Amino acid sequence: MCGIVGYVGVSDGSTILLEGLKRLEYRGYDSAGIAMIGADQKVKIVRSRGKIAVLQEKLKSDPVFGKIGIAHTRWATHGKPSDENAHPHRSGPFVVVHNGIIENYADVKLQLEKEGFSFASETDTEVIVKLAEREWRRGKSYYTSIVDTLRQLRGSYAVVFLNQEHPEELIAARKESPLILGVGEEACYLASDVPAILPYTNAIVYLEDGDVVRLSRDGYTVESLDGKRQERTPVRIDWNPVMAEKAGYKHFMLKEIHEQPHAIIDTVRGALDLNRRRVSLDDLNLTDADVKQIDKIVLVACGTSYHACLVGKYIIERLCRLPVEVDLGSEFRYRQPLLNHRTLLMAVSQSGETADTRAALQEGMDQKASCKTIVNVVGSSLARMADGVIYTHAGPEIGVASTKAFTSQVAALYLFGLYCSSALGHISQDQLGRHIQELVELPHKMEETLSNSDTIMRWAKRYMHAQDFLYLGRGILYPIALEGALKLKEISYIHAEGYAAGEMKHGPIALIDESMPVVVLVQQGLLYEKMLSNIQEVKARGGQVLALVEEHPDDKLGAQDQQLVLPRTSEWLAPILFAIPLQLLAYQIAVLRGTDVDQPRNLAKSVTVE
Ligand code: G6P
Repeated sequence: MCGIVGYVGVSDGSTILLEGLKRLEYRGYDSAGIAMIGADQKVKIVRSRGKIAVLQEKLKSDPVFGKIGIAHTRWATHGKPSDENAHPHRSGPFVVVHNGIIENYADVKLQLEKEGFSFASETDTEVIVKLAEREWRRGKSYYTSIVDTLRQLRGSYAVVFLNQEHPEELIAARKESPLILGVGEEACYLASDVPAILPYTNAIVYLEDGDVVRLSRDGYTVESLDGKRQERTPVRIDWNPVMAEKAGYKHFMLKEIHEQPHAIIDTVRGALDLNRRRVSLDDLNLTDADVKQIDKIVLVACGTSYHACLVGKYIIERLCRLPVEVDLGSEFRYRQPLLNHRTLLMAVSQSGETADTRAALQEGMDQKASCKTIVNVVGSSLARMADGVIYTHAGPEIGVASTKAFTSQVAALYLFGLYCSSALGHISQDQLGRHIQELVELPHKMEETLSNSDTIMRWAKRYMHAQDFLYLGRGILYPIALEGALKLKEISYIHAEGYAAGEMKHGPIALIDESMPVVVLVQQGLLYEKMLSNIQEVKARGGQVLALVEEHPDDKLGAQDQQLVLPRTSEWLAPILFAIPLQLLAYQIAVLRGTDVDQPRNLAKSVTVE
């Protein structure tokens, strides 16, 4: 949701702000704007409906320059995408950009209108800047006006203020919306996410909820809303700027699909002790004795991360013989879940900022559960809230539709299952060794799967005009059917449903006819023959079967005209291999249909509002 960038330094910041915005465009892209204080000591604002490219065009004929400024890319919550609703918003000398939702904006607006203020936009954000002006008119300083404004707001915010009368200083604050500070040579940066400022610095301060920060080119100070000084020291992060670029690929999504073998290697590398055949998860902060205390595991997430949790349930229940519940963050937080100190709650998220997932973790904390997280972004909100972390080392994921984060999450959940299983004594050293070996061999099989994309291209061409798709899987591949359908919906806008193949006859079978492509995920093993029966049911009704089949010497499915054979791996890791062709299928269809793959309509990468 919305991306923010701020700069104060000794060079012209306009390119830095625009480049930063482009790197945050995945967070929202319905309008954008920039404000800078120029050499004339005046604030100039340029805003525009549409993507950042539209703003860039506008800036060609109406440029901004300056050594201090703020910028914003928007994902609309209050007020349609328009020039007037685009940020930055201004009132008197104050200019602001905001990410979040001000829940009491209607009351505040009414009050300010009574006092004679008038509003130029439909946004909740405009009340922030009007309030600041009101406080300032009461004789307060720049800083105190802002702090007193923040005290009157309910809801979530990451905000950055620019003030014409203080051309040397930005003031920013956060509450339940992400905001990071970057420290450079004679410069400070602000951003919603690390990739925005990665080309300039990797010294990052992760601001906390309630922090108010003043920054100038000489440095920064942080206080709480009640004026207490806060120590916030920068950490060095090991991402490099190239990781947040397309590196010759047409889209970030395609690049990220191809990065998956490496993402898996990086995720499991630190946890596997090959010589001693052990899994160690040092940041998880969970001893063997702690594991023995657990009587239930709850996995919570949203979107694609939720699908990773559904896979995780199959893995953990089987390996640990512990009950595992899986819930959506948005449902969990309101259903009064039953948790206690023997529950382990694991929040799974790429960004670590998803509002509903954070609220779910908070619920676990309130009910004294042991609260852990699997997260990709170091220092993100979830990483800081939880009392233990497993990092997926997938690197920055920019494409809105998640790919490498998903497969890395499955790998991390697998590591977690192995770790707990061994703490509980459910797995012998030899068995653990075999699991570890499968993990070590997986990246190579992923490469093989990736190199075999001709069939996918043929399917994409043949079915790019289909109105509906059905994805069928059983057992541990059922969540992959859900994920395959989600990928297609997200980026190609084709309606798709994922279904447990055994459930097909209870409803979706009515949809099947000659025009319906049905993607079937066929794993060898226990459910293999049942899946074959489901395929026959589809064929009997004229459905077009597209089969992903795990390699096996006596495969009974027989040659199908539309079949892609995948390398064999363990039952637990098959979801990772099966996910890859489904990502590629969605990608190829979207490209053929000419949709905006990396920034699909109406979606945002990081959903930091409810
Ligand atoms: C958004 C994104 C999805 C993502 C979901 C959860 O909907 O578009 O790709 O899976 O949020 O995000 P998280 O960062 O918590 O994994």
